[in-house]
Amino acid sequence: MSLVFERRDRVGSTNDEARQLAESGAPDGTVVIAREQTSGRGRRGRSWFSPDAGNVYMSYIHRSRLPPAQLAGLTLDAGTAVAEALEDTGVAAVTKWPNDLLVGDRKLAGILTELIVDGAAATVIVGVGVNVRRPASGWPSELADIAVSLQEATGLEHDADALAVSIAQRLKVSLAAYDVRGAPDRAAYERRMTGIGATARAADGRRGRVLGVAIDGALRIEIEGAEQRVVGGEVLLVGTGIEGRP
Ligand code: BTN
Repeated sequence: MSLVFERRDRVGSTNDEARQLAESGAPDGTVVIAREQTSGRGRRGRSWFSPDAGNVYMSYIHRSRLPPAQLAGLTLDAGTAVAEALEDTGVAAVTKWPNDLLVGDRKLAGILTELIVDGAAATVIVGVGVNVRRPASGWPSELADIAVSLQEATGLEHDADALAVSIAQRLKVSLAAYDVRGAPDRAAYERRMTGIGATARAADGRRGRVLGVAIDGALRIEIEGAEQRVVGGEVLLVGTGIEGRP
């Protein structure tokens, strides 16, 4: 099925707009793209800086054939898809588990994946925000040390709408492949993953050496010779300069 683009000037959150469209029957591959968000949302209840300034704010509707319980790893493939689209613009972004996109120690893009479950059927909303331009008045103070734009990373101007379309095309291929495999492409994810071999500290206090990711999207860490899994919450990469990044 082809992509269907729903363009908006200003919304609260493209994820909320996509949810409403999905609940009204919008097909697989529907993509909401907005120029501005007034209540852009990040993971763990954070807000996402979303001025009308040439950035990407988009949400992709994926109608999955898999049971909801098998969708935990999908967010990793979404991260790989966004990283690939960013690579096409000339930037080598890395993923920080589960799906932040970084350039060096700064955040270029973030992904907020939300699930709508209706009986056995699952719809995934993949929300993607990419900092394309440095704000004309500079970054707000809370982002000044932690955010980066594509413009800053490449030294070039980029068209947000073209990038959103490219991300949507990558997501379409990658999420369809996820549905066939029933699992993320771990090798593709780990190739771009920052922190393998570093010490991670999980939100529950565990510290261990990062081994990679598991088939269900969990982070694999080694503690005293034994493998353990981290399934959620903030993970700090100790001593890498990207501790505590939002
Ligand atoms: C994060 O890194 O915390 C995730 C950020 C996700 C931001 C995007 S912008 C488009 C979509 N709509 C939202 O409200 N959030 C996501």
